[in-house]
Amino acid sequence: MPEIKMHLLVCCGTGCISSQSDRIVESLKTALKNRNLQDEVKVVLSGCFGFCEKGPIVKVAPDNTFYVQVRPEDAQEIVDEHVLKGRKVHRLLYVDPKTEEHIADSKHMGFYKKQMRIALRNCGFIDPENINEYIAQGGYQALGKALSEMTPKDVVEEMKKSGLRGRGGGGFPTGLKWDFAAKQRGGTKYVICNADEGDPGAFMDRSILEGDPHSVVEAMAICGYAIGAQKGMVYIRAEYPLAVKRLRKAIDDARATGLLGEDILGTGFSFDIELRYGAGAFVCGEETALIRSLEGERGEPTSKPPFPAEKGFWGKPSNVNNVETFANVPVILTKGADWFASIGTEKSKGTKVFALAGKVNNVGLVEVPMGTTLREVIFDIGGGIRDGKKFKAVQTGGPSGGCLTSKHLDTPIDFDNLIAAGSMMGSGGMIVLDEDNCMVSVAKFYLEFTVDESCGKCTPCRVGNKRLHEILEKITQGHGTEEDLTLLRSLAQTIKDTSLCGLGQTAPNPVLSTLDNFWDEYEAHVREKRCPSGKCKALLSFVIDPEKCKGCTLCTRVCPVGAITGKVREPHLIDQETCIKCGACASTCKFDAIVKK
Ligand SMILES: Cc1cc2nc3c(=O)[nH]c(=O)nc-3n(C[C@H](O)[C@H](O)[C@H](O)COP(=O)(O)O)c2cc1C
Ligand code: SF4
Ligand code: SF4
Ligand code: FES
Repeated sequence: MPEIKMHLLVCCGTGCISSQSDRIVESLKTALKNRNLQDEVKVVLSGCFGFCEKGPIVKVAPDNTFYVQVRPEDAQEIVDEHVLKGRKVHRLLYVDPKTEEHIADSKHMGFYKKQMRIALRNCGFIDPENINEYIAQGGYQALGKALSEMTPKDVVEEMKKSGLRGRGGGGFPTGLKWDFAAKQRGGTKYVICNADEGDPGAFMDRSILEGDPHSVVEAMAICGYAIGAQKGMVYIRAEYPLAVKRLRKAIDDARATGLLGEDILGTGFSFDIELRYGAGAFVCGEETALIRSLEGERGEPTSKPPFPAEKGFWGKPSNVNNVETFANVPVILTKGADWFASIGTEKSKGTKVFALAGKVNNVGLVEVPMGTTLREVIFDIGGGIRDGKKFKAVQTGGPSGGCLTSKHLDTPIDFDNLIAAGSMMGSGGMIVLDEDNCMVSVAKFYLEFTVDESCGKCTPCRVGNKRLHEILEKITQGHGTEEDLTLLRSLAQTIKDTSLCGLGQTAPNPVLSTLDNFWDEYEAHVREKRCPSGKCKALLSFVIDPEKCKGCTLCTRVCPVGAITGKVREPHLIDQETCIKCGACASTCKFDAIVKK
């Protein structure tokens, strides 16, 4: 049999598949066959590389060449030039936005240089649908080690020593949580994986499940052994069909290989996993609501205590962990807690995956050691602000988080530093905003989401957040008063203090953080009836400068509502009552005579 000399890794994560990467797989196979190379070069369907914006991605191993925005029609050229002649296809290489240099090796790309992949270690590296590839990368060694060399208590102690904290938002120490569940008496216990991933823009859990589902399957089995559970459940949103398909296959393959089910690896330990589907309600990601939903009830949170570790699914002790948290577990057991604890900051160990989005040059999934600064993530990995604009803020933590400013850019990212700065880690959403973003509108946007997603069980969240939203709407419409600003703060604080679950307790964070960090913008809206970034339409006006207007009449012809009047070759005038602020006149005027105020 000929030896495989080269691998062509084609990203088949949701992002790249939506740009036909599955067709690239087929085209590459055909192109290889055309040159009789099908036995020497293997095409591998892989998980997400994180740089989805530049997808579809094809990576060549072993030389690490990273091709971006590949189309099925490029397949023959890649085979003929790169595989046959060893010449890289220049036009498909990544171009650095700052230097405009073509970069071939992903190791030298700004996007990857400061990243460290632990949770995403196998994503983009192995075929997620092939258990043997996971095993070849050391997969299931941790489970084997736990079952044959460690007691359940040893496993819990190792997790505690590693300092791993939950990646689902709360940052609770994982080892401690396992310890609570392990210490509960009684027969049946459950391991629950929270794959609900409701934060808008976050997709790290989906990418892990699509790119490396066995890491979660293995971790759940390890957790089952540590806490004394035989049954695992993954609560996954049904809108993730590819993740569902790959996870289901991973569970079936693990069972067929004797790594799940009865008497795993002949050790007498039995554990199996079942999938349950969520319908996409944000609140169902909250662990008590998730458990109610698993039980077939309405997904509403309940007060804690009792915590799920004491009384969870069907009243039995249940350990709930997030997908990314679980993905860290196997590697902690194989490489050791000390290794993991050596990465990160004093109280936040390991790495964190962020979904970097918004006004940055490089958008995608990035995994960095805890302690990396916001500046490094936004300017080194993210490549800085798009179109040469000025950085204004970064929103971390999704709808529960807050907006930080340039004074926070050198803050090392960890659970505690982000909270101290007035935001939070959340599940890892990171949205960069520039000078054109209105911070009052940003707060309103997030609140709109939480108002929609509130389950309505408790009054502060159901009614209070709606009132908060109404006040913000009033301010952006130009009717805000000084009293509204005082009311915003006190109402936000009351909602935080009195809501039942994390959704209500954190929903006012975007309002409070923008009030703290962008007070001048609120003042401009309220006192001067002005939106400094020109985003709030109601506060905008388009005015014609009579000095510059030549009376060419072009603007009168583009105005959809006939708001502009004037005689030929005489300065024109905009009727502010009729104007709908569409901006068509300003972008049409050849003499820059129409200004936005
Ligand atoms: C409104 C709300 C939504 C949440 N959504 C998620 C989610 O989608 N995924 C998740 O893992 N945790 C979510 N959480 C956190 C969970 O309640 C829970 O803390 C987490 O699953 C525990 O796992 P961890 O310790 O590994 O982070 C949410 C919390 C709240 C309050
Ligand atoms: S805080 Fe909001 S989401 Fe949570 S229980 Fe109350 S109404 Fe429901
Ligand atoms: S902004 Fe639009 S509606 Fe207003 S004057 Fe210009 S073209 Fe007409
Ligand atoms: S889906 Fe292909 S790089 Fe993310």
